Amino acid sequence: MLSTIHSGALWGVTSYPIEIEVNMGERGELRFILVGLPDAAVKESLDRVCSALQSNRFKLPHTRTTINLSPGSMRKEGPIYDLPIALGMLLSSKQIEAPCIDDFLIAGELSLSGRILPIRGAIAMAIQARKMGKRGVILPLSSAQEAILIENVEIYGVENLTDTIHLLRQRPDEQRKSSALVTSPEKYASSSAGLVHDFSDIIGQDRAKRVAEIAISGGHNLLMIGSPGVGKSMLAQRIPTIMPAPTIEEFIDIVGIYSAAGVMHGDGLQPFSRPFRAPHHTISRVGLVGGGSNPHPGEISLAHNGILFLDELAEFSRATLESLRQPMDSGMITISRSFGKVKFPCEFILIAAMNPCPCGYYGSRNHRCRCSSRQIHEYLGKISGPLLDRIDLHIDMPAVPADALTSNGGAMRETSEQIRSRIEMARQRQSVRYQGLPLSCNARLSESQMRRFCRLSEGEQTLLRQAVDHGALSARAYGKVLKVARTIADLESAENIEQHHLIEAMQYRLLGEM
Ligand SMILES: Nc1ncnc2c1ncn2[C@@H]1O[C@H](COP(=O)(O)OP(=O)(O)OP(=O)(O)O)[C@@H](O)[C@H]1O
Ligand SMILES: [Mg+2]
Repeated sequence: MLSTIHSGALWGVTSYPIEIEVNMGERGELRFILVGLPDAAVKESLDRVCSALQSNRFKLPHTRTTINLSPGSMRKEGPIYDLPIALGMLLSSKQIEAPCIDDFLIAGELSLSGRILPIRGAIAMAIQARKMGKRGVILPLSSAQEAILIENVEIYGVENLTDTIHLLRQRPDEQRKSSALVTSPEKYASSSAGLVHDFSDIIGQDRAKRVAEIAISGGHNLLMIGSPGVGKSMLAQRIPTIMPAPTIEEFIDIVGIYSAAGVMHGDGLQPFSRPFRAPHHTISRVGLVGGGSNPHPGEISLAHNGILFLDELAEFSRATLESLRQPMDSGMITISRSFGKVKFPCEFILIAAMNPCPCGYYGSRNHRCRCSSRQIHEYLGKISGPLLDRIDLHIDMPAVPADALTSNGGAMRETSEQIRSRIEMARQRQSVRYQGLPLSCNARLSESQMRRFCRLSEGEQTLLRQAVDHGALSARAYGKVLKVARTIADLESAENIEQHHLIEAMQYRLLGEM
């Protein structure tokens, strides 16, 4: 008897339909035939399935059994077809009945005892089910809790083979009442719990705090340069506390990428939040941008809609940093493989920190720098011009005076919440202005959009022209200053870009156009 189970194959962050057909002959010797471009993990599936069936006191097939994963042209990866194959065998051998199995997409890895283990890409599969007009998905319980973010599709979470069979025996109305129907996104319910840092911990560094506020408001990339111990890493660690909450659509994209990568977003600390990724400088190019034979998202995609923090920027390999250029421009990384192209979104804000020279003290008031001018030049030269070109804001961070560090001015300092409320307001202004456009923030304005949304009056135009004429601003920096000025104006709720917005924006170009 032939049975068909519907499932999905993950490709990038999207799931595509897969059918698992199991055909069991009436006679013939026991023989398994697995067809349809399965990878090694899928081939091992039979052993796990047989063990799980035996552990749950089901009869194993004893005739020729053909298992076809179709379409044959699509690569099938991983052990997620264990559960559909097991169900297919049970249906074909008439050991169970499942009247509404066609209503669902089903996926899950089986342990030898029949427990169901989490899978990658649960969100993608729920979206696929909705698109196909299916009633729901049956997934491992922990994966189902991710998929619950997707509306208008029923999400069932199962822990073992017996639960699944029990669920499939029921009528739709019984199923909807069963405990397997997951209704609340437990993992994402609360917010801001677990945040231990606050901007008010930072003494002094008002200019750096102001620039961080501008960067997060307008989505601008930021480079902080300063001697050891001035608080660069400290400030970066606190950036998550001023990030505005994502919209539900942004959050689904974020969790979709984590789900496809098979890792948890937020580590259970800040469930409903934007990501903050801080990879070590020894990271490989593939680790950063993504790749592998079955392409996985890299750190830049895990930072989608959030922050990518590169501490000690000059220590990263130059080739690794260069690979950031194209994805930073397009907000998307494309990985080509012989069997096709995979795309992962990667719209992140880059926050980077570095010392000004190898010894770290060039320009410091308190320490003497031991580096030659050539060493300093080479050190800064590690960050290539094209990468620097993609960073709108670069500032130096001087050491905080000792008496400021010891004084007790904590109560006077602004909290993260106060800063975040201004950022949220500035973001709100941008989303109203860019309504209907595929554009989320000022930093992503194209040339033509910039001309439309960053109009200057005569006086402001003259100011910028003079700065270019006197060499204070390169033609390339012109656009960046304009976008940053737009953000500064938004933070002030100003309709138009005014002179003082431009003057402030021009101050955040420490490295000029090197
Ligand atoms: N502005 C500051 N306010 C309060 N504490 C500070 C400040 N700057 C530095 N510190 C203290 O010094 C420690 C070291 O700072 P941090 O690690 O941020 O320095 P850094 O600039 O990243 O240095 P490095 O270049 O060596 O990485 C912090 O953990 C904090 O305790
Ligand atoms: Mg540091």
